[in-house]
Amino acid sequence: MAKKTVRDVDVKGKRVLVRVDFNVPLKDGRVADDSRIRAALPTIQYLREQGARVILMSHLGRPKDAPDPALTLDPVAMRLGRLLKAPVRKVNELTGPGVQAAVAAMGPGDVLLLENSRFDPREEKNDPTLIRELAGLGDLFVNDAFSAAHRAHATTAGLARVLPAVAGFHMEKEIAALERLMSEAKRPFVVVLGGAKVTDKIKVIHRFLDLADQILIGGAMSLAFLKARGLSVGASKVEEEGVGVAAEVLEKASGAACELVLPTDLVIADSFSEDAATFVVDVESIPDGWMALDIGPATAKRYAEAIAGAGQVFWNGPLGVFEMAPFAEGTRAVAEAMAACPGVTVVGGGDSVAAVNKFGLADKMDHVSMGGGASLEYIEGAELPGVAALPDKEPA
Ligand code: 3PG
Repeated sequence: MAKKTVRDVDVKGKRVLVRVDFNVPLKDGRVADDSRIRAALPTIQYLREQGARVILMSHLGRPKDAPDPALTLDPVAMRLGRLLKAPVRKVNELTGPGVQAAVAAMGPGDVLLLENSRFDPREEKNDPTLIRELAGLGDLFVNDAFSAAHRAHATTAGLARVLPAVAGFHMEKEIAALERLMSEAKRPFVVVLGGAKVTDKIKVIHRFLDLADQILIGGAMSLAFLKARGLSVGASKVEEEGVGVAAEVLEKASGAACELVLPTDLVIADSFSEDAATFVVDVESIPDGWMALDIGPATAKRYAEAIAGAGQVFWNGPLGVFEMAPFAEGTRAVAEAMAACPGVTVVGGGDSVAAVNKFGLADKMDHVSMGGGASLEYIEGAELPGVAALPDKEPA
């Protein structure tokens, strides 16, 4: 069901508390990837154009319930100001007299960024005292942070219970894309799953075994499957707990209409390094002392062909250690095949988004979800507290 959005309410002159997800990677005190900041721009610009006072809230990283200077939102404020081409005022607290004064001084169209919400230990506890203090700063709550919507925190879910609340444009786009993917599957529905741990993806794999036509497995998690099939994986790092989980998945897959596809060849290396000696081997032939760091070319070709013929594709998790050139080709092959695929293409979260950005292919995808954990939980069928707390759109 679609959610009420900023378009459905009058925001003119209002003080609008906007939850964004500015949990971005930092390098040397600067924003290393501003995709999540860019994703929030349409909502921020719209609110400014409508004459709202825009008060932004976000977490950054996982500070231990106290301010951590390395996780201040200062670098984010700078980048946001540059992207908006407008001044962004930043305060060093989340609530309190200084913040109240800064809000009182705002004019229509002004933008204020509050400090990292997780510097306040009450944020993750969804504490009513924090919710009350924050609610006193605004007239309306806008949630544009889909990627944090799986957290039941004060700024993601709590505020929606006490203030009139609506979704921002990015939140609306994320929900619509994932809802379409899961409810109106265009066949064949091909899913590509990579990344480190099969235990992180177990519920998602079960959901897709019921829904998709093919699941193509890669990344370190494919090794748990190979080990579960009794193959030796040499010196590769394998999540031990994942091997049992993979065995259960293989068992379920053997009776499912959906085909679970594992790599048939791998790129192996003698060390975890860009300068390592590398070979391509069949999955049956990983020598002792060697580790698998990418899918091999035959597997990449097979996966690319499956993607080329797909009605829709969902991809989460890299197929190899794409950050190192010798192990990037499997991930690149999947990204390029998706970019060329005429079907609907959705990339979900974290490392796979970093990969499509690195290959310059993000704008060739139908949807790039900013939410790793949130998109997977949505797909599992879990209720996301930040989404559930927003009211549904009234029927036309
Ligand atoms: C994310 O990066 O997935 C979101 O910002 C949520 O962050 P968290 O996993 O620290 O809650």
